[in-house]
Amino acid sequence: MNALDYRFPGAVKPAPVTAPAPDPGPGPEAPAAGAMDGPPPARSVAEVLAQTQVEDVLGELDRDLVGLVPVKARIRDIAALLVIDKLRTQHGLTSQSPSLHMCFTGNPGTGKTTVAMRMAQILHRLGYVRTGQLVAVTRDDLVGQYIGHTAPKTKEVLKKAMGGVLFIDEAYYLYRPENERDYGQEAIEILLQVMENQRDDLVVILAGYKDRMDTFFQSNPGMSSRIAHHLDFPDYSGGELMQIAQRMLDAQNYRFGDHAAEAFRRYLGLRMAQPHFANARSVRNALDRARLRQASRLFADRNRQLTADDLLTIEAGEILASSLFRTN
Ligand SMILES: Nc1ncnc2c1ncn2[C@@H]1O[C@H](COP(=O)(O)OP(=O)(O)O)[C@@H](O)[C@H]1O
Ligand SMILES: [Mg+2]
Repeated sequence: MNALDYRFPGAVKPAPVTAPAPDPGPGPEAPAAGAMDGPPPARSVAEVLAQTQVEDVLGELDRDLVGLVPVKARIRDIAALLVIDKLRTQHGLTSQSPSLHMCFTGNPGTGKTTVAMRMAQILHRLGYVRTGQLVAVTRDDLVGQYIGHTAPKTKEVLKKAMGGVLFIDEAYYLYRPENERDYGQEAIEILLQVMENQRDDLVVILAGYKDRMDTFFQSNPGMSSRIAHHLDFPDYSGGELMQIAQRMLDAQNYRFGDHAAEAFRRYLGLRMAQPHFANARSVRNALDRARLRQASRLFADRNRQLTADDLLTIEAGEILASSLFRTN
């Protein structure tokens, strides 16, 4: 099959908003017979929000994620656009489904994957995708090693993601200009086709470093023109990283003991200046190592009766044991 003719079977229009709503009953305002199935069409922003419960996801996004102020604002803007688009459709003012493909740029660990999962939920609640699922892939999932392997691989991934969101991490690796016969180009062409023809059933989010993505778009104007929303994820400040650490500990039922928070603040100060610093991911990794050290300390004390407090607490020593503190 020619890649350019490829269309996935079973693509269906996104379901209309299906959240339950009270039966309007046969009052004077009731819609004409034949239009009685499902909830009445929403006529106000409040009605769309109530029917879709999209506010819940936006609220969770605000609450659960530290910082990311510009990203959160952009997501609210996109949600507003989609809610209005819905109302416009009901008045017959919009016929085409909006292009929703996005690009999330930022350094590692700035929350791109996490936010993409929330975005999938928002799109699902608003009825722009059939499922709230996100399929996350990289070049290796799409591109084969040998001739003839790429198209089936890419199509398999697209089939899996269809109806939801396809998240392509470090998307620029699909394009390798230094290699004339790189199979990545084949994957890009199939993606472009599906992004255009099946945009009512699949949303693609490209993610990666900002500068590399810019270069990628310069060489792939077709891809660039299909991206409707660009969101840039800033690095976190030291204070935000501390808050993220606290949230991660809370979520796992751990806490910093006396002076451990201070030790972690110092740790972050050193770590942020190191190569390969990866924002919230570095925080998560550092806390994982601290938990290992805490477990070793408790494990060594065979006969002690351990209280919940013992089991909860990360001591300063578990932070200060990091090799970062050892250099001179
Ligand atoms: N703003 C935030 N608040 C709380 N946790 C965060 C935040 N941003 C990222 N994280 C956490 O940090 C880790 C890395 O985030 P991730 O979304 O994978 O980053 P990226 O995809 O940009 O590399 C995840 O465990 C995520 O839950
Ligand atoms: Mg990621």
